[in-house]
Amino acid sequence: MTIKNNDTHILIFVKILVTGGTGYIGSHTVVELQQKGYEVVIVDNLSNSTKDVIYSIEKISGILPEFHQFDLCDAELTAKFFTENKNIDGVIHFAAFKSVGESMDFPLKYYHNNLKSLINLLKCMGDAKIKNLVFSSSCTVYGQPDILPVTETAPFKKAFSPYGHTKQICEEIIEHTIDIYGLKAISLRYFNPIGAHGSALIGELPLGVPNNLIPFLTQTAIGKRECLNVFGHDYNTPDGTCIRDYIHVVDIALAHISALERMTNNKSAANHEVFNLGTGNGFTVLDVIRTFEKVSGEKLNYKLVDRRSGDIEKVWADTQLANNVLGWKAARSLKDMMLSAWKWEKQLKSKK
Ligand code: NAD
Ligand code: WQD
Repeated sequence: MTIKNNDTHILIFVKILVTGGTGYIGSHTVVELQQKGYEVVIVDNLSNSTKDVIYSIEKISGILPEFHQFDLCDAELTAKFFTENKNIDGVIHFAAFKSVGESMDFPLKYYHNNLKSLINLLKCMGDAKIKNLVFSSSCTVYGQPDILPVTETAPFKKAFSPYGHTKQICEEIIEHTIDIYGLKAISLRYFNPIGAHGSALIGELPLGVPNNLIPFLTQTAIGKRECLNVFGHDYNTPDGTCIRDYIHVVDIALAHISALERMTNNKSAANHEVFNLGTGNGFTVLDVIRTFEKVSGEKLNYKLVDRRSGDIEKVWADTQLANNVLGWKAARSLKDMMLSAWKWEKQLKSKK
């Protein structure tokens, strides 16, 4: 970002490192950062994304982000990167593995990747005296909360999956590390990010059969999958299906800029702060399906089946802290989310 100081006319460039910046949420955040004038450098090992994403980002913002491909679990490569890139003002750390199901089958893969990458990053940030870190956490740290909507003070429940456990541990690593390394951090607990950029140039790219509702739903609607299984219809909810707080990925992206600016403007109330990122509204799976059918004009083939093991019944966010303290509020509706997800799915098909 170029900041003009009125007295001296000095130009200051604010450069942000986005780890996992070619991934789903990272790429949307890179676009928003660039559009606000930040200079962005991406580090990604492309374990769950492709390099093409940087050219899609360029198409949207007009700026090709600087890109470095390496694994943040490699301590030497990470240290070398920070030695060679001294002018970084803040870090947004998205890079992690994120599949709950895969983490049940390969727990050590998840503990290794999600913890080691954060540990290496914190050490290098401390050595390089880079102060500001935004960390991608998740509502999964709460499990099934006792009180809804869930606030940031709700206790961590025993994690159902190794993935969820890595997010709990990462938040604790940050908590125990920042003072020693002289850092400030904000952990953002995302609820259910869905949707895609309005341009349909970037979006979620699940490998293989999707586990998550929205990509499975749009792939069914486009004819790639035969039928969407709705997991469970006997929950204690208005229509028997689970409730989640779905939030547009662009709203999530914008919250990262609010978090970064809170730290760079010295507004943090503590060295490590935590905020929920949701809309504050819960929708059932059937609400989501009906909204999709309405905005797309498509009839979705779905059937009600047994519960999926490990699913919690209902969760939605108390967003007051993010709204009032972080100064951020989700602005996009469930309709916007479904429309953009559908536009993205159609665009993917048209490229094949
Ligand atoms: P994603 O898989 O699309 O993006 C993550 C990116 O990180 C990928 O491009 C991957 O190649 C990269 N990466 C992974 N490990 C790496 C490593 N060791 N070194 C370098 N790059 C590495 O995932 P996403 O949906 O964009 O999620 C981003 C973050 O948000 C993750 O930390 C995830 O746990 C968290 N999160 C996601 C959701 C969600 O529903 N998508 C919800 C809550 C939290
Ligand atoms: C949503 C709802 C399913 C697929 C996961 C992670 C969580 C966070 C967000 C990272 C549930 C139902 C789903 C399908 C269905 N990620 N469903 N048929 O499980 O709320 O959260 O992503 O941090 O940690 O656990 O998201 O999209 O898988 O499911 O009926 O084919 O859709 O039962 O009620 P979930 P999801």
